[in-house]
Amino acid sequence: MAAPSVAVDNLNPKVVLNCEYAVRGEIVIHAQRLQQQLQTQPGSLPFDEILYCNIGNPQSLGQKPVTFFREVIALCDHPCLLEKEETKSLFSADAISRATTILASIPGRATGAYSHSQGIKGLRDAIAAGIASRDGYPANADDIFLTDGASPGVHMMMQLLIRNEKDGILCPIPQYPLYSASIALHGGALVPYYLNESTGWGLEISDLKKQLEDSRLKGIDVRALVVINPGNPTGQVLAEENQRDIVKFCKNEGLVLLADEVYQENIYVDNKKFNSFKKIARSMGYNEDDLPLVSFQSVSKGYYGECGKRGGYMEITGFSAPVREQIYKVASVNLCSNITGQILASLVMNPPKAGDASYASYKAEKDGILQSLARRAKALENAFNSLEGITCNKTEGAMYLFPQLSLPQKAIDAAKAANKAPDAFYALRLLEATGIVVVPGSGFGQVPGTWHIRCTILPQEEKIPAIISRFKAFHEGFMAAYRD
Ligand SMILES: Cc1ncc(COP(=O)(O)O)c(C=O)c1O
Repeated sequence: MAAPSVAVDNLNPKVVLNCEYAVRGEIVIHAQRLQQQLQTQPGSLPFDEILYCNIGNPQSLGQKPVTFFREVIALCDHPCLLEKEETKSLFSADAISRATTILASIPGRATGAYSHSQGIKGLRDAIAAGIASRDGYPANADDIFLTDGASPGVHMMMQLLIRNEKDGILCPIPQYPLYSASIALHGGALVPYYLNESTGWGLEISDLKKQLEDSRLKGIDVRALVVINPGNPTGQVLAEENQRDIVKFCKNEGLVLLADEVYQENIYVDNKKFNSFKKIARSMGYNEDDLPLVSFQSVSKGYYGECGKRGGYMEITGFSAPVREQIYKVASVNLCSNITGQILASLVMNPPKAGDASYASYKAEKDGILQSLARRAKALENAFNSLEGITCNKTEGAMYLFPQLSLPQKAIDAAKAANKAPDAFYALRLLEATGIVVVPGSGFGQVPGTWHIRCTILPQEEKIPAIISRFKAFHEGFMAAYRD
């Protein structure tokens, strides 16, 4: 009997043709090749290290984990430490008491056992309490689904909402490619709405309405609206007024609001603050019956940056009991999310409070990281804006800058000849000249005919001046080489 043949052309076309994920795409693969070359042939390239500014992965670039969180995890994972006298001098008192409480809430104190499909009840109680204290409105542990990062929660909602290619999801452009990829994988239609770069990546309700109406005319059943706040790759923080309009729009149009709130702790400007969409909806007097709403949160971002621990949750409100049963069923197919991630999610939503033994050191670590991120964002923004042909909006939040490149026609022609989008061509040249890895704007979507790159603000602060000078030298050389 012939061996079963597997070839790209008989794989699922939703994967092969429709799904792209630029933050780990061609440029990054090339960077990894160059990194190997640096190891095997040191000195063979014009730089001696690759600087990964392509992905929001803080600890990969040297950010230190928050001590309190790691102490609690260590104690939970190795509970016999709690019986040893030395532990009292090695771990803070509140980490010991927190780990003791958490272990008491885990059946059999077994962090190696599967949990309830939504996650350990005691941890969901703690998360609900954290949400209630953040928002000033009640939250319910039964509404929390703990997930391995925000990504599986997003996939789960897309899987539930998308029946076929006529089901549409309104998505910001530019957007984090998890959304385009996940809509493509589940076979739905991405209905784009454009963020307005000239107003600091503002979200305009008139554009939302237009896109919704146009797609309904094409027979698309628009099911949900995705909002990323603070924004990735755009770094804007929505104003409260704007959020109220979005909530009203979803209620009036019968859309599920999918609120990606993973950057809720990453805000760098004094005149903006994070408001969850649930808080906004409740403050408008809307309750569960008015609006189906999902909030995604993650342990990967914020000041904690625990990407590899894979923790997060979604809070679902405004869904009927039979629908919730189906969400539960989908969650059950994966059995449960990992327990370390679950514990971390409970910790980031309930960090030490004033008066706790760790509070002062925790606060110093948190403030140190966030203040440094704010300085790095400002330094990079100023540097981009000082260069010919580059304009860059302020990073109010999240972890990225998304500068626009006005490239000379000659560079655009050279890109075409190389069979590349102009921003991909620029990013590739930047990598080859400097070792700096950024992602071309085409990976996130952009107004046709405009070109961008996304650059994270995550390299350690002491490296920023060198990055800026390498970037400047490259850019000036590039513009000189292709000047029209
Ligand atoms: C806006 C946004 N949502 C979700 C995610 C997914 O993160 P994770 O699955 O690690 O929680 C990311 C990661 O960069 C992101 O930027």
